[in-house]
Amino acid sequence: MNRESLGTIVSSIDGPSPSVLSFVVNEGKVHKGMFIELDYSEGTMVCLVEDVIKTNRYFERPDSVKTIGSELEKNFPVSDWEFLLGKARPLGVFVESSGNIQRSTFPPSPGTKVFKAKDENLKKFLALQENGLHLGSINFHDVLLKVNLSKLLQKHLAVLAMSGAGKSYCVSVLLEELLLRKKEDGQIAVIVFDTHGEYTCFGESANSPYKDFSSVTKVIDASKIKIASSKLTPWMISNILPDLSAPQKRELSSIISRLSNEMKSGVGPFDLSAVRAELGVSQNQKTAETLLGILSEIEDLDLFSKIDYPAVSDIAKPGQLCVIDLSKVISDKKKQIIVSYFSNKLFNDRRQKRIPPFALFVEEAHNFIPETTSKGVAIAKATLRTIAREGRKFGAALVVISQRPKRLDTTTLANCNTNIILRITNPYDLDHIKQSSEGLDQSSINSISSLRVGEALIVGEAIGAPTFFKVRLRTSQPSKHEVTLEEAAKRFSEQKQKNEDELSSFL
Ligand SMILES: Nc1ncnc2c1ncn2[C@@H]1O[C@H](COP(=O)(O)OP(=O)(O)OP(=O)(O)O)[C@@H](O)[C@H]1O
Ligand SMILES: [Mg+2]
Repeated sequence: MNRESLGTIVSSIDGPSPSVLSFVVNEGKVHKGMFIELDYSEGTMVCLVEDVIKTNRYFERPDSVKTIGSELEKNFPVSDWEFLLGKARPLGVFVESSGNIQRSTFPPSPGTKVFKAKDENLKKFLALQENGLHLGSINFHDVLLKVNLSKLLQKHLAVLAMSGAGKSYCVSVLLEELLLRKKEDGQIAVIVFDTHGEYTCFGESANSPYKDFSSVTKVIDASKIKIASSKLTPWMISNILPDLSAPQKRELSSIISRLSNEMKSGVGPFDLSAVRAELGVSQNQKTAETLLGILSEIEDLDLFSKIDYPAVSDIAKPGQLCVIDLSKVISDKKKQIIVSYFSNKLFNDRRQKRIPPFALFVEEAHNFIPETTSKGVAIAKATLRTIAREGRKFGAALVVISQRPKRLDTTTLANCNTNIILRITNPYDLDHIKQSSEGLDQSSINSISSLRVGEALIVGEAIGAPTFFKVRLRTSQPSKHEVTLEEAAKRFSEQKQKNEDELSSFL
C-alpha cells in the first residue's frame, strides 16, 4: 500500500545534516513531539519533530505588512503562500534486516519524502515490549508505552516533578503493573516508603470500577515498627548519634556486643533497659553518665525493643506490595532510622539471596538522599546510595521520587538510568536534571515546563529515545485521604457543628 507522505525534506542553512533536518509539510497534520520516518541508505531513519513553524513570505517585512497588508489580502491569494515547516532531529536508523539500530552519520537528501512513523517501527525503535509494564500511551501515535521491567528498574528509576504534577499517580500505575505481572513473567517484591500515606489505599478493599489489590498488599504503620536493640551495631550507633565521642561510642558498642553475646548464649533478647542497667554499673562513670542522657533520647523514639517488627522476610515477597506508612511518625530522626535500617537489611538479605529481587520506592527522596548533608539528618543516605551504586548486580532496584530534584544527591540521580519527568518549572531543578540525565536535549528540557498534569517524559535505559507520553488511567482506587481545600474546609465545619450539637444535647 502506498503511504501518504507528510512532507518533503528541504535544503536549509543548517540541514539536512545527520543531526537536524527541515521538511515542508503537505498538510497540517504534523505536531511537535511526533515521530516521523524516511527511507535512508541503510534502512529507515526515525526522527522526532522538535518544532513546527508557519511561514508566509508576504508577511515577512513588518513595514510592508503595515502599509499594504490589508490591500494585499484583498488583491492576492496570500494565504496560498502560507506553508508549514517541520524541524526534526534524527534519532537513529532502524535496519530492518538485522533489527539493529544505528546512529545516523550521513545526511538524508533534500527532496526525500517523510512519513509518520509506522507503529510497528516505533515500537521496535523505542524498545517497547508487548508484555512490558503498561505506563501510558505515546502522543500522536497508536502505540502504548509498555516498557521492559529490567530496563526500567534494574539500573534504577527516578520519578521527578513539581508538587501536584502527578508523581504519585504515575507511581501508582507502575505499582499496579508490578502487582499484575504473571508468575511466569517474573514477579519481584515491591516495598514503598510512603511518607504521606499516599499508597495505603492499595491495602484497602475496593469496589467496582476499581481493581482490588488488598490481597497482595501489606500496609505497615511505621509508628509500630520496632528494631531489635541487638541490631545497634557500631556503624548504626555512629550513624544515629554522630556527635558521640570515640570513648562513648566504644563504651556503648561494647555493652551492646556483650548483651548480644549473652543473648546468643541463651539469655534471650534484650532491650534498652538492659543497656541502661549495664551503664549503671559501668567502671567508667563519667562516660556512662553522659551516655545515660543520650540513651533517653533514643528511648524517646520508642523504636528499639527486644525483637524486629516486622521481619524483613515478611515485607519482601514476590508479587506483593509492602507499604511502609511513615505518615504517623513525627520525628524526622525516627523516619530516617527506619528507612536506613530496612533498606540496609533488605539489601544485605538480597545479597545473600534470602529474599526475592525487589524494587524499593522512596517517596520524598530528597529528604533521605539529600545533596548536602548536615550531621545526623541524612541517616539513610549512605545505604540508599549503596543500593543505587551496587543494587543492579543483586536485583535490588531503587525508585526515587522527588519534587525537589535540585536537593537530591547528584550521584544517586546519575545512577538512576531511567528518568520519568513530569511537569517542572523551577529552572534550578531543570538544570540539575539536565546535568545528571544523559540523552536529555535542550528541546525536551524546554517542553518539560509546559507539560500538563499526567503528561510525562521518559528518558534513559528503558526507552530507545526520549519520549513524551500520557500516563494511563489508574485502575486502583485513589487515596481517600486526598481532598480538595474546599472539601477539607466543609468537613471541618461539619465536624465542629457535630461536636457543638453533641455538647449542647449533653448539657
Ligand atoms: N495521569 C493522571 N490522570 C488523571 N489525574 C491525574 C493524573 N496524574 C495526576 N492526577 C491528579 O492530579 C493530582 C495530583 O497528583 P499526584 O498526587 O500524583 O501529584 P504528586 O506529584 O505526587 O504531588 P506531591 O508532590 O504533592 O505528592 C491528583 O488529584 C491526581 O488524581
Ligand atoms: Mg505525591
